Parts: sequence; C-alpha cells; structure tokens
Amino acid sequence: MLSLIISLQKLKGVSVALSYVKIAGTGLSTPPRILSNADLEKMVDTSDEWIRTRTGIVERRIADPEISTSDMAYEASLKALEAASVEPKDIDVIIVATVTPDHLFPSTGCLVQSRLGAKKAFAFDILAGCAGFLYALKTGKAFIDSGDAETVLIVGAETLSRITDFQDRTTCILFGDGAGAVVLRRSETPGILSICLGANGDNWELLYLPAGGSRIPASEESVKKRLHFIRMKGSEVFREAVKAMEASSIEAIKKANITPDKIDLFISHQANYRIMEAVRKRLNIPPEKVFMNVDRYGNTSSASVPIALDEAVKEGKLRQGNIILFAAFGAGFTWGSAVVRW
Ligand code: UT7
Repeated sequence: MLSLIISLQKLKGVSVALSYVKIAGTGLSTPPRILSNADLEKMVDTSDEWIRTRTGIVERRIADPEISTSDMAYEASLKALEAASVEPKDIDVIIVATVTPDHLFPSTGCLVQSRLGAKKAFAFDILAGCAGFLYALKTGKAFIDSGDAETVLIVGAETLSRITDFQDRTTCILFGDGAGAVVLRRSETPGILSICLGANGDNWELLYLPAGGSRIPASEESVKKRLHFIRMKGSEVFREAVKAMEASSIEAIKKANITPDKIDLFISHQANYRIMEAVRKRLNIPPEKVFMNVDRYGNTSSASVPIALDEAVKEGKLRQGNIILFAAFGAGFTWGSAVVRW
C-alpha cells in the first residue's frame, strides 16, 4: 500500500521521503463569558451539586450574540497556524467539523477560508456530531496520504448555546461554546498511527435537532414547540457512548500496533467525567493519564477534543514521542478513536 502511495506521489512530483501525517500545531478559541452552575440554578430546577456529581461540569463558556461558529473557528485556526509556522497561503484543505454552522450553507469551512485568505485551499464542513473532529482528522489525513494535499487545517467549532433549550434542565446544563484547530502536515516520522470510525443511524432519535432542516422547516409552529433545540435521551446515549468508545479505542490501539500500557495521554470527548471514567477503567488506563477539562467547558461537541488537545499541549503534558489516544462519540450515532505519536 505504502509503495503504491509513494509511486503515486512520485507521479505527482511530491517528495516521496515524507510518508506520514503529523499534527504540526494546535490552537483554541473560547468565548470569555462564563455560565456557572450557580447561574443555571436560577434558570432551571437544578443544583450545582447535581450537575457536578452527575457530569463533572462546573462552568461552560457562552458566546455573545455577535459571535458565531466561524468567528471562533477563525481565531483557533490563526493560533494553530502560528504554532505550526504555516501561512494561510500554504493550506491545501480546510475542514470544519460542526453541528452549529453559521448558516446551513455555505459551509463554515468556506467562511474560514475567506477570513484567512487561504486562496489555494478548498473547504467544506463535516457533520458527525461530537465525533466530528475525528471524522475530519481521518478525512484530512486521507488527503495527505493520497498525495492531494501537504497541509490541511482541521477545525472543530460549535456555538451549541444557540441550539440549547435553557428551559430543559436535562440538556441545558451540559453544553458550551468554543473551537479548537489543528494543522496536519506530511512528515518524515510517524504521527497519526490509526483512526477508527463507526456509525449507527438506527439510534438517531436519541440525540438530534428536530427542526430547521428539510424534514421540519422553520415555522411559527416549530418555534412554538421548541423544535429548534437539542433533544437527547441522556442515559441511553451514556450507555452507548461507553460501549462504542471502548470498542473503537481497542480497535485503534490494535491497528496502531501498540498495547494500552503504551498510552501516555487519553484525550476523550468531554461530555461527562463519568463516561470518561467508565471508558478509562475498561481500557485499564491509570487516572493520571486522562486529560479532563469538562469542568471548565462542558460538552462542546466537535470542539471538545481539539480544545483539550491544545490545553494539554500548553500545559506541557505532551513530550515528543508520547502516545495519545483520542476517543469521541456523538449524534448519529457516530464514534471514533485515534492513536497519535506526538
Ligand atoms: O456529546 C454527545 C454525547 N452525549 C453524551 O455523552 C451525554 C450522555 N449522557 C449523560 O451525560 C447523562 O446521561 C446526563 C448527565 C445527561 C444525565 O445523567 P444520568 O445519570 O443519566 O441521569 P438521568 O437522565 O437518568 O436522570 C436522573 C434523574 C431524573 O429524575 P428521576 O426521573 O430519577 O426523578 C432526572 O429528571 O435526574 C433528573 N435530572 C436532573 N435533576 C437535577 C435530569 N437533569 C437534571 C438536572 N438537575 N439538570
């Protein structure tokens, strides 16, 4: 397979010595406004104690009305590009994973492309719920593997507060806004070792946004019935999330040709500390190897993994050669895991 890729790259005039894909830089953008559990106690029938013990969340960030997904995606991208020492003109592909695009179309990817002035890049969005970042990572890597790209910008960005029902205590305590970005580049040394994705559309109604698409277009009635907000059956999603993230992580670890004890840092989708704990225990990963920031941001869907990665980098938790396990699960259902050598 590798020799086939190298031959294809030779034909395309691409340097053949570089056959791997690495994360070359990371960045994040989160809005400054904090919504605390105490604030939520004043809005719905809940308590700080319930939210902390059931989810691990203490506060989340909420974007001001003039800020939308592309604004945070743009800011996170600038930081990731700077960290990778990459100019916008050198980006070949921009992929934004989001369930809260600025508009249904054009894609948020195109809006980011324009703001960056990344004239050479083609751009699009991926909608794969909270697993969106891993779907985008796999897609971006495939463009580099195929020889079609050298540099790919991947962004996970969400303004979930716009689709959160602040009258529904079962969901409004969970979600927050933010964006994380990474730059992927061809490399001489291994970076991304494996990415395993999965989906099961049978359970789509357990986590979805009823209206605003072609099934239920916006109408007075759809607004009155609060159909433009997230609906979720939390405990069913919880069970499926644990099972799927465990299974895909085992698959990704195997495909990367390593054993679980080689993992230096486990960066999971930050939905609920109890989910991360359950997956960690099933994979036999010690607690000190798990990165968590769900307490400060809540669930930011596609943005949660790249935000966590950027914070782990900034906190000095990653040294060259470290092995990271990523895992995520979300609406669709969709899920995925990846093993990356830093
Ligand atoms: O990111 C995509 C994937 N999403 C997820 O991974 C989310 C997965 N689900 C979860 O994180 C959890 O299921 C939740 C945090 C959403 C809920 O926790 P749970 O332990 O599954 O609670 P539950 O839904 O079984 O509800 C237990 C009780 C219920 O009351 P009764 O029926 O036992 O009397 C709820 O009505 O807690 C009640 N409850 C609340 N009480 C206070 C639900 N939400 C709240 C609340 N405050 N905010």
